[in-house]
Amino acid sequence: MEYNLSVKNEQNPFNIDVEKFVEQFYGFIQINHLYDSAIHEIETKLEIIDSEFQCNFSRNPIHNISSRLKSPESIAGKLKRKNIPITAESILANLHDIAGVRVICHYIEDIYQIASYLSLHDDIHILKQKDYIKNPKPSGYRSLHLIVTVPVFLSTGKKIVPVEIQIRTIAMDFWASLEHQLHYKSKNNVPPELSEELRILSETIHNTDLRMEDIYHRINEIDPENE
Ligand code: GTP
Ligand code: MG
Repeated sequence: MEYNLSVKNEQNPFNIDVEKFVEQFYGFIQINHLYDSAIHEIETKLEIIDSEFQCNFSRNPIHNISSRLKSPESIAGKLKRKNIPITAESILANLHDIAGVRVICHYIEDIYQIASYLSLHDDIHILKQKDYIKNPKPSGYRSLHLIVTVPVFLSTGKKIVPVEIQIRTIAMDFWASLEHQLHYKSKNNVPPELSEELRILSETIHNTDLRMEDIYHRINEIDPENE
């Protein structure tokens, strides 16, 4: 049975422009696949960096890698805030954080090593780097953010895709996860004195990171075989 969806009737009660809808729908599926593939490319590169480190220095700098595709709600919300039309083309042109990869490291120096190894890959281009470790956000948030582009090879040719990479230590991640949850729980109405307490805690956590790194170096000085 054929449905006639080109006019408003009981088969098309919302009077949808079906051709436009189908075109947009496939556009979004293709975008999803493209960004998902870009995430795979970046994750593979990071896994190789980590395993080479293990081969050369008998230790892994990376504790964990996770990734996410920005949800359709967040994409629409961000485009709306920026007053940009919600189409597949404008997503590609305007948003750099559709694909997100989070890398959790053991020590602060691992963060910079990983960023520097990634930047040596000649198919990776670093579009933007924000160092929230040297310059923490007023909230106390610390992380190294990179917006990189990576090529994805499709049947239709090479596509250059942006990916946001957040690199931080286990300690920075502990703080960011809880702080994010607390803001979410309180619908962003955290009282100023509690925000200040969270910021002070982020300093405490940073000092712990520095002291752990110091102990790591001092242990290696005793037993350089480990380094
Ligand atoms: P967005 O519109 O949120 O993507 O901001 P932006 O494009 O200016 O990027 P920015 O570098 O400020 O941060 C982007 C991401 O970093 C956020 O989506 C969070 O994952 C994380 N982030 C930034 N600031 C904070 C913070 O104060 N607390 C926590 N928990 N996470 C943060
Ligand atoms: Mg973002």
